[in-house]
Parts: sequence; C-alpha cells; structure tokens
Amino acid sequence: MEDELIQAAQEACKFSYSPYSNFSVGAAILTEDDQIFTGTNVENASLGLTMCAERVAVFNALSHGHRKFKLLAVYTPTDIPVYPCGACLQVISEFCDNLTIIIAWKRGKLRTTLNTLLTHPFRGEA
Ligand code: THU
Repeated sequence: MEDELIQAAQEACKFSYSPYSNFSVGAAILTEDDQIFTGTNVENASLGLTMCAERVAVFNALSHGHRKFKLLAVYTPTDIPVYPCGACLQVISEFCDNLTIIIAWKRGKLRTTLNTLLTHPFRGEA
C-alpha cells in the first residue's frame, strides 16, 4: 500500500501546473478505508493564489466525504527530500491527531510524522 501511495503521488506530480517556480510536487493521501486521493501543486500568475499539492490532495479526499486518514505520501523529482510546508501541516492537523508522512524523492524515501514536523498546531482555543 505504501508503494502504491508513493506511485500515486509520483503520477500526480506529472500534472503539476508550476510554470512560475518550475517546482512540481505530487501528493497522495490514504483514507481510513484504503482509498487514495491525489493532488498536485497549482500556481497562478497572481502568485499568492498558488495551492500546494498536499492541500489539493486533502481537499480532494474531503470533497469525496473522507475525513479520516492514515498515510500521506509526498513526491518531488528532486535530489534531496522535500518536506510539506507549515500551511499544509496545519491543514492536515485539522483532521489528524497524528499522521505518518512518507517523503519520496528521486533517490529515496523516508518516513516521518505530522507531530514531528508540526509540534504545536494552532487549535483556536483559549
Ligand atoms: N509546494 C507544494 O506543493 N507543497 C509544499 O508543501 C510546499 C510548496 C509548491 C507550491 C509552489 O507551486 C511550489 O511548490 C514552489 O513553492
């Protein structure tokens, strides 16, 4: 299942719309009931409107009625591992207490967790 998820992220990466940064990212999230939803980064001439691959994948799953996740894979065609940005981690934290995240790149893959990458998510509670 892990390899399938990485492959799905790699496939999604091919559809990246990133003419401004030339940096493509693919993401694939696995739901509690083993369905895979993918996303890629989508840029815009108004640069601040850019949306990351991870959030597209999560929003894609949410839009299909899924709110429980067990694994996220992020793929970049790079020589070094690339980690999800803080905004994406915060969005993921809305739906996951913790989540295993696989970071995959041209030469390898590693496993980490949401709690490792985002130690103190914003909760909006005083
Ligand atoms: N990007 C992602 O897709 N995910 C991240 O976690 C960080 C950055 C995208 C946004 C933009 O299209 C490109 O990478 C360069 O920042």
